[in-house]
Amino acid sequence: MSKFQAFMGWIDDRLPVTATFEKHMSKYYAPKNFNFWYFFGVFSMLMLANQILTGVWLTMSYTPSAEAAFASVEYIMRDVEFGWLIRYMHSTGASFFFIAVYLHMFRGLMYGSYQKPRELIWIFGMLIYLMLMAEAFMGYVLPWGQMSYWGAQVIISLFGAIPVIGPDLVQWIRGDFLISGATLNRFFALHVIALPLVIVALVVLHILALHEVGSNNPDGIDIKKHKDEKGRPLDGVPFHPYYTVHDLVGIVVFLFVFCAVMFFMPTGGGFFLEPPNFEEANGLKTPAHIAPVWYFGAFYTVLRAWTIDLRPISSQLGGVILMVVRSQSCSYCLG
Ligand code: HEM
Repeated sequence: MSKFQAFMGWIDDRLPVTATFEKHMSKYYAPKNFNFWYFFGVFSMLMLANQILTGVWLTMSYTPSAEAAFASVEYIMRDVEFGWLIRYMHSTGASFFFIAVYLHMFRGLMYGSYQKPRELIWIFGMLIYLMLMAEAFMGYVLPWGQMSYWGAQVIISLFGAIPVIGPDLVQWIRGDFLISGATLNRFFALHVIALPLVIVALVVLHILALHEVGSNNPDGIDIKKHKDEKGRPLDGVPFHPYYTVHDLVGIVVFLFVFCAVMFFMPTGGGFFLEPPNFEEANGLKTPAHIAPVWYFGAFYTVLRAWTIDLRPISSQLGGVILMVVRSQSCSYCLG
């Protein structure tokens, strides 16, 4: 027995490392017929790791205050060793994360992977997407540029349309009567620790749910139907080494594209980092156009397409709800 085997034996007696590796990698069977679209789950994982790692390094030099945030990002870009690289890995990385996730979701819709028995995988996916949007929005506020400030103003104001509690809710989210350093500080806390924790936990659940039922595939074959005498699926291959090596090739190609954009077009022509965000936040100067980054484009279009002002309706509705609540409590007092 080699020293390594002895060491692993010692660990396995105390923590099931080998058994877990076998269950989820070397003895986990995946369909043989995965195609191009099946790369995007692993690309999403890669970008999640990239965001967490570069985020930790950015946090080392970033200052989360209204007075110093913008200057600290400029300091990272100009003075911190390879700060520009870390920042662009993170900001361009956010867009590549969304590209990977959107194509991953498109695959799920195309092959009906949200159907029985994969409903929970899809539900965890939707929760990840929701959290990811909140994470990206709060991250965009941190450089405290013009678009950070005014984007936050628009998005937080949306909560004001909720009947009855809207205005108080907006103030509660901002932590102030207007977008301020208090807002920036809480967004920083949520962006660097709270939401990443939730996202990582959801991704673990997403994969555990996937491994319980197994992957779908382009032809919709159920690999558990036909097994050999040892119970191994005939239409499947062990995830490791077949798909680990296969995915590694995809990762190299993906990284080539990511690096090409990051080194030669890091702002994505104004789509990944918008020009007004290179100007410091100014609460007295509204930019001519307040538009979100491309990955929120669909939601932005919905907002722009809707020209009716809902506020009078929501306040009317609020009035009706309040009347009902009051009449209920009054009939209780009388009773
Ligand atoms: C951080 C974001 C995400 C990560 C890291 C992630 C990771 C993965 C991985 C590694 C797989 C297995 C490989 C593959 O099938 O591509 C997978 C499968 C799947 N994911 Fe995700 N995912 C994420 C977000 C989402 C979202 C937003 C949805 C949909 C709302 C989703 C829905 C699915 C479905 C339905 C499957 C099973 C697909 C099939 O078997 O055909 N995922 N995910």
